[in-house]
Amino acid sequence: MRWFRRPVPLQDKVAIVTGGSSGIGHATALALAEEGVHVALAARSESALVEVADQCRSLGCEALAVPTDVTCREQVRRLVADTMARWGRVDILVANAGVYVRAPVRELTVADVQRSMAVNFYGVLHTVLAVQPHMVERSTGHIVLVSSLGGKKGFPHDAPYAAAKFALAGYADVLRQELRQAGVQVTGVFPGRVDTPMIETLKVPFVSPKIPPQAVAKSIVSALQRPRPEVIIPFRARLLHWVDVLSPRVGDWIVRRFHIEGWEMEEAEE
Ligand SMILES: NC(=O)c1ccc[n+]([C@@H]2O[C@H](COP(=O)([O-])OP(=O)(O)OC[C@H]3O[C@@H](n4cnc5c(N)ncnc54)[C@H](OP(=O)(O)O)[C@@H]3O)[C@@H](O)[C@H]2O)c1
Repeated sequence: MRWFRRPVPLQDKVAIVTGGSSGIGHATALALAEEGVHVALAARSESALVEVADQCRSLGCEALAVPTDVTCREQVRRLVADTMARWGRVDILVANAGVYVRAPVRELTVADVQRSMAVNFYGVLHTVLAVQPHMVERSTGHIVLVSSLGGKKGFPHDAPYAAAKFALAGYADVLRQELRQAGVQVTGVFPGRVDTPMIETLKVPFVSPKIPPQAVAKSIVSALQRPRPEVIIPFRARLLHWVDVLSPRVGDWIVRRFHIEGWEMEEAEE
């Protein structure tokens, strides 16, 4: 039982957080810094990264801002190389960078799906492939892959996003089982709606309100301290997932009945 195990101490561990400039990644970087973790932050926007790195340092940890586009394998390799050069190890990877690509299936283009896959799936793959050999060599490490409830249950208009997040969930499932013997933990994180810039123009129904990014960050830190295969938050997201596993027909009905997919602001105002 994981609650009876002593929590893994995080003090002085080294983490890479992709998408560390905003939303969940920003909140996770701060939560890790509060635990004494040194963080290498990656995203495309350098100014936002530098600001988050300063906030982390003010909490007493060391921080590195490495402007990185995760769709570019070379830049991801450099991110990991810079982290290794600074601290000589990577203990934790939070592969969190993502984009929300929405398109109704009748208007969907291959480019929409490619755009989503490039960041939400291949961006994560590039990062894991760059970090994994270092963790395996040391027989220790924890990889956290931030998927989405949309990687458990697809919502209308979310085909490009859900396709990438389901792919990521499948990858996480296999990665966790294969790396276990090598001493590397893997956790898949599946948040419902989160109040971040990613969905600031999305109006959501009362049954699936946006939760604060700090709540997701807290559950990531908790999963690092007491490793677990998956985190689905909040509880109502877990409930929808369970119902959907038992009966996709009822799952579809709930999504339809409550408009779980939400409305883009302009749509909502019409
Ligand atoms: N918000 C939600 O409701 C929700 C729900 C479930 C799961 N999630 C997942 O949580 C993760 C974080 O999302 P968020 O809600 O915190 O969104 P956010 O506030 O928009 O943050 C997204 C982060 O990803 C970075 N990013 C985007 N494209 C990138 C690229 N090509 N290379 C490197 N970094 C890139 C962004 O920085 P730059 O633009 O500067 O690169 C930013 O730091 C995503 O994987 C998302 O799918 C979000």
